Amino acid sequence: MTEFILARQNGRKIPREDRIFGISNRAKAAIAEKGRENVVNGTIGALLDDEGRLVVLKSVDEVFRGLGPNDYAEYAPIGGIVPFREAVQKAAFGEHFPEGYLEAVATPGGTGSLRNVISNYSEAGDAVLTTDWHWAPYGTIAGEIGRKIEVFEMFTEDGRFNVESFRAKSSELLAGQNSLVIILNTPAHNPTGYSLTVDDWDKVIGVIKEEAACGKAIALLVDAAYIDFAGDEEEYRRFMPKLSELPENVISIVAYSLSKTFTLYGARCGAMICVAKTAEIADEFRRVSEYSSRGSWSNTARIAQVILSRIYNDPELLEKVNSERKKYRDMLADRGRAFGEAAAECGLKIVPYDAGFFVSVPCDDPDAASRMLEEQDVYLVPLAKGIRVSVASIPESACRKIPPLIKEAIEKGC
Ligand SMILES: Cc1ncc(COP(=O)(O)O)c(C=O)c1O
Repeated sequence: MTEFILARQNGRKIPREDRIFGISNRAKAAIAEKGRENVVNGTIGALLDDEGRLVVLKSVDEVFRGLGPNDYAEYAPIGGIVPFREAVQKAAFGEHFPEGYLEAVATPGGTGSLRNVISNYSEAGDAVLTTDWHWAPYGTIAGEIGRKIEVFEMFTEDGRFNVESFRAKSSELLAGQNSLVIILNTPAHNPTGYSLTVDDWDKVIGVIKEEAACGKAIALLVDAAYIDFAGDEEEYRRFMPKLSELPENVISIVAYSLSKTFTLYGARCGAMICVAKTAEIADEFRRVSEYSSRGSWSNTARIAQVILSRIYNDPELLEKVNSERKKYRDMLADRGRAFGEAAAECGLKIVPYDAGFFVSVPCDDPDAASRMLEEQDVYLVPLAKGIRVSVASIPESACRKIPPLIKEAIEKGC
């Protein structure tokens, strides 16, 4: 029996309340009642300052305020305005452009890129491969268009990227499907904060080359939503040229997002950028991606496209934006470091963390542990395999305070 009244289930499990928003609402109510200093709200997926206010880059806000009506009122072309399509490639690749045929198509955030890649490079009913620790909306996006997510184990026992699990699962799925979409969220992965090293990348590329020998179509989607909050921008882009090593039947697509990098979460802008071996494959990419955009959200909002184009057209302004972001990235790194140190001091095991908005703590009963933490006014997100802490949304003092509380809750909850 379906739990819906008039709506159709279509194989989906739609909860009554979004879990994260539910916990986040309880956290907000606790803050209103007891005061911000007495509550830890580590549920929010946006960068907040130590007073709990959303960080908005002033340099970006100034560009926003200088816009005229035509900059936001007019429709943008389906694939994006031309200056944006050029600027966003510079933003995504920095000094590490891969060789090959590159095309960028504007999308509403990285989310839009994920949707279009899955719809065009997998078939109805197919499984899309990603890591066992992953951003839950991957499943929602895939399910909405009749696909599903399958996972490989992200880490070995000793906390390294699990290349063998990646190989085994890719091979298994390719044996049963005509094509395969692979999603790797790196650097500063959500929810663990792991970044694939250059060595990990060499191994990943090696596995894909071997698997691609079967001749089937493979799309490697690099979800780079957090790339500019990982560390030095160029250092963290060193893996990009490796995408050119892949053979003709593999297309790499970078899902780039303006949400975090330019603090433009609500302006809904990003791009899907392909690295293809031939001009025909790149043209096809552009054609199918624009077609899918037309059939889902039509064109992407113009406003953030104009903002990015202006920033990249003005080297001084770009420098200003980058140095302002660095200040906040350093703040985030301090918080991540503080959490790691406090966890080590009290013996709390965390999933390998390098950088970014989130740290994850593995545990057997995440729901029980997070309920227990709520009783102490610590609000975190329970996932399938552990608890996610948004260090992006809590001050350094809270990052130092909560690891022992989490440890105690996990021990009591088991
Ligand atoms: C892992 C990951 N990928 C992609 C996104 C997409 O974000 P947006 O659609 O705002 O660009 C997010 C946002 O939280 C994310 O966490």
